[in-house]
Amino acid sequence: MRKIKILLAAFLLIFTVALTGCGSSADTGGKNVAICFPNTTPSWERNAESLKNYLEEDGFTVDVRSSATVEEQQQLIKEALQHKPKCMIIGAIDSAALVDVLEDAKNFNVPIIAFDRIILNTDAVSYYASFDNDAIGEAQALYFEAAMNLQQGGGPYNIEFFAGGPADNNAHIFFDTVMKMLDPYLKKGQLVCRSGQTDFNSAAVKDWQAENARPRIRELLTKYYNGETLHAILAPNDEIAGVILDEIQKAGRPAPLISGLDGDPKAIDRIRRGQQTFTIAKDPDVLTAKCFRMVKAVVEGTEPDINDVKTYNNGVKIVPAYLCTPQIIDQTNVKDY
Ligand code: BGC
Repeated sequence: MRKIKILLAAFLLIFTVALTGCGSSADTGGKNVAICFPNTTPSWERNAESLKNYLEEDGFTVDVRSSATVEEQQQLIKEALQHKPKCMIIGAIDSAALVDVLEDAKNFNVPIIAFDRIILNTDAVSYYASFDNDAIGEAQALYFEAAMNLQQGGGPYNIEFFAGGPADNNAHIFFDTVMKMLDPYLKKGQLVCRSGQTDFNSAAVKDWQAENARPRIRELLTKYYNGETLHAILAPNDEIAGVILDEIQKAGRPAPLISGLDGDPKAIDRIRRGQQTFTIAKDPDVLTAKCFRMVKAVVEGTEPDINDVKTYNNGVKIVPAYLCTPQIIDQTNVKDY
């Protein structure tokens, strides 16, 4: 009897192990994918939800892991990779902090798609799905140029600059592109930055956390614009524009010419009310739909649709990309948005 019990226990153990093994969709050829995004802004959460919906409708099992800090994201990516997903889509909190953690992606043959932000210094990343980040910086600069008639010699206008979070590669692309295009006007004195803070580090808003911009705009207003008009402000995205405009309003000053990025619903409202001048809309559905098709191609072993094979050298390789086209929204077209 004791022997039978032992045998039965052994049989149950083997059976359970076998079942557990079968439960992992990696072993059954299931279409399991992982999405590892930040949860630092509502737009990331909207993106994760939209991408998940596209994938689930197509029969994918989706493991969404959202994180608030670099360390948490590294940990969650590590854990998600243990399930050997057929593909992992990452929105990097720190573009350069995933080199070690993505070694397992190579060991387990998990293709990585970088979403919105490129992942630097690793060959583990297969593709990049984003908006055209250079075009975003260009559009912001061109809007300022036209609105202030700079090509025709307009000015002098006072301007201050804000940039995104230093750990995000996009923040550098946007800022560098704008500054390169506006620099000649600063040199000629058509644009005047009274604080002199025209370098990325002085302008950066840590972690893209909009509240981090509040003390700086307060200080700029009191220190450099006491009795002076601040005509224009480069805000790197809509959330940061919102905080800046809030402080400007509290100070009882008129709204300046101010940029934005993303096409957040609150920014669209501000544009309608004439508070925010413009935004560069990154329709989340456009990018997630494109990324979904990319994931599908990768999992099915076909070639994804790519429209750029030269721009994104991540320090180790050129990452083939699909770059979606952003759209300028201001008072002239906000009603159609
Ligand atoms: C994105 C922006 C976004 C920002 C903050 C950047 O990498 O390109 O669209 O506003 O991160 O989340």
